[in-house]
Amino acid sequence: MVFVVNEELVPKELTKKYSQKEILEIEKKYLAPAVGHYYENPVLFVDGDGAVLKDYSGKEYIDLFAGICTTITGYNHPKYVSTLQWQAERLVYTSSLYSTIPYAVLVKSLAEIAPEGLTRSFIVNSGSEANEAALTMSRKFTKNPYIIVCQRGYHGRTTLARELSSAGWRTFPEAHPPGVRFTPYGYCYRCPFGKEHPGCNMECAHYVREVIRTQTNNAIAAFIAEPIQGVGGIVQPPPEYFQIVHEIVKEYDGIYISDEVQTGFGRTGGKWWGIQHTGVDPDIITMAKGFGSGIPIGGFISRPEVAEGYTVTDSFATFGGNPLSCAAAVAVIEIIKEENYLEKAAKLGAHLKKRVDELKESHKIIGDVRGQGMMLGIELVRDRATKEPANQEILTVMELCREEGLLIGKGGLDNNVIRLQPPLELTDAQIDQAYTILDGAFSKAEKSL
Ligand SMILES: Cc1ncc(COP(=O)(O)O)c(C=O)c1O
Repeated sequence: MVFVVNEELVPKELTKKYSQKEILEIEKKYLAPAVGHYYENPVLFVDGDGAVLKDYSGKEYIDLFAGICTTITGYNHPKYVSTLQWQAERLVYTSSLYSTIPYAVLVKSLAEIAPEGLTRSFIVNSGSEANEAALTMSRKFTKNPYIIVCQRGYHGRTTLARELSSAGWRTFPEAHPPGVRFTPYGYCYRCPFGKEHPGCNMECAHYVREVIRTQTNNAIAAFIAEPIQGVGGIVQPPPEYFQIVHEIVKEYDGIYISDEVQTGFGRTGGKWWGIQHTGVDPDIITMAKGFGSGIPIGGFISRPEVAEGYTVTDSFATFGGNPLSCAAAVAVIEIIKEENYLEKAAKLGAHLKKRVDELKESHKIIGDVRGQGMMLGIELVRDRATKEPANQEILTVMELCREEGLLIGKGGLDNNVIRLQPPLELTDAQIDQAYTILDGAFSKAEKSL
């Protein structure tokens, strides 16, 4: 049955014009404190277009954070919204106990854009679930319990995914799932070995051998890493980090999992997946965020031999692979192809990086600028020599930007890294506007140094 949208049927509570004060009061009373908002005076968004969000009062904001690195196709992309509407009019849900067209079309599309050899997908609802599934599958395949994961990384908040996510999220006494071992990441700005790249012999990468030899039975199930750490503060190791680690992981019969929840779908520019910039061929890629551009969906794509033994008794998700989410993801992949986002991310990213490098020239609060494509980080420090994290000043910068109509993200173990991970619907003119706002905000925040 096909419907024409009838606004009269939409619950009046949803179409009513609320004030920000009213919504904050409801939230204060009914929302669990586990939900936290950015900004002292949280923003109430009601609408979006391209890379711009509009609040309840009509004020517009250029969004350089895309929710959290999620709305890759921007807000209200016509193809995306039309696909959602079209699918919603037909079939929102039935479980994966039955075949549906969107699920089948999606996994075929994923195989077409995945690195060579990755063909078999499993669809869930989030990045955490995708990582849990990929790791369980790797453990089953290798018959080994050990997972190697990078310090300062982030892989989600379910029990295992939380355990994989480095310090900063260990906020309460908890029982830790066994078998997880940590290895250093290639964080050159704050090298854990006190070295400088190049000329450091990549000790951070080689250290994984020491971890495996001293903390496992000389074999592992999997190594999992982000090609660029997102939550950890847009940390990007040199490509050889991944090549060295990959070689060692294979020596110990491990599965290499690239967590592309943030770096996937063209964000890093020029390629579909972040790992493709490093020369490493992963065994599994996990994905979420930009995958649905806002609609909840996650998943993995794997080498068929690894996926072979992971069966319906091992995993299931009631909402996993539902027609609405899968249709949205099919539309996202098509938009990326039709609008040449891979090239766009490289070009826009180069412009954004150039402007951020200019900011570094004129603002001593900026200690480091890093990242690639539409995934850049600006690490703020109180002193360039001591690198003391400017974790209060970053809040001032964020507030000042918000006042001027610019949204930016925050990350890093010390919460002192500005994260720029905008929708790919951003324009060069918006980048220049953002530069002017950031320039003013840094000048003001620096006064306290
Ligand atoms: C790299 C990475 N992996 C996994 C996750 C978890 O995804 P989700 O919040 O959808 O569970 C995140 C979320 O930020 C992430 O950044």
